[in-house]
Amino acid sequence: MKHFGLIGSPLGHSASADYFGAKFASEGICAEYSLYEIADIADVESLRGTLAGMNVTIPYKKAIIPYLASISEEAKAVGAVNCVRIDSAGRMHGYNTDVEGIRATLSPYAEQLRGEQALVLGSGGASAAVAYVLREMGVQSQTVSRTIGRGDLTYEQLDESKISSVRLIVNTTPVGMFPAVTDSPNIPYQYLSSRHLLFDVVYNPRETEFLRRGAKQGALVVGGYEMFCRQAEASWRIWND
Ligand SMILES: NC(=O)c1ccc[n+]([C@@H]2O[C@H](COP(=O)([O-])OP(=O)(O)OC[C@H]3O[C@@H](n4cnc5c(N)ncnc54)[C@H](OP(=O)(O)O)[C@@H]3O)[C@@H](O)[C@H]2O)c1
Repeated sequence: MKHFGLIGSPLGHSASADYFGAKFASEGICAEYSLYEIADIADVESLRGTLAGMNVTIPYKKAIIPYLASISEEAKAVGAVNCVRIDSAGRMHGYNTDVEGIRATLSPYAEQLRGEQALVLGSGGASAAVAYVLREMGVQSQTVSRTIGRGDLTYEQLDESKISSVRLIVNTTPVGMFPAVTDSPNIPYQYLSSRHLLFDVVYNPRETEFLRRGAKQGALVVGGYEMFCRQAEASWRIWND
């Protein structure tokens, strides 16, 4: 039996083990998927001999890179790895399948977004993957950070004219993720309208407070669950290549 898993910390929010458990059961696949909440990225060494592949989540998507024997062009361009294939010699090869999940989620809106502007809340791994896909789609994006110098903008700079000038706002921060489900990113929701599309990469809960507040203003809203499923399926294809 082949073993797969997810490394990260904390992992309480993750649906990966449930997703792959249900997939293996429904498709009659003899494999196992486990969660590995590791305290230090160096602990990944102990999994080389055990796993055939793994997903990587907070806070190790960048930290895993020095442990890899190779990295895909796309993962290198994004600067983050969320999928690792481990070959028979125990060498680790890194990929970014979040990119595929983001593409699949935003592709129905490609026409209306091309040439428009977007805000990407947060400046971590998911933010870099979203910015990469938006560049491909011809959408100009600015990152928004809590810290001056880490993004193009800070939350304090999001006034009515900035919110009105963008068509898309993507939350790539963990704000609103289970269990803190009543939290939402600090943006002026009152300036949102039916012109806006809101995409939250957080998928637990399915409708976050960010999306709920956007929908209340008439915005079109899309959650992170499709992205989650697409990145999981893309990982599965890579492990079985
Ligand atoms: N749907 C999916 O398949 C999928 C895939 C990947 C990730 N995700 C979700 O996306 C979220 C981010 O993941 P990630 O890997 O990008 O994490 P990350 O690398 O830690 O980045 C998150 C960023 O959010 C900002 N942030 C963190 N805590 C915050 C807070 N309390 N308030 C405001 N901003 C905060 C930070 O940017 P600043 O310091 O610049 O503000 C940070 O760089 C997680 O909830 C994760 O579960 C979902």
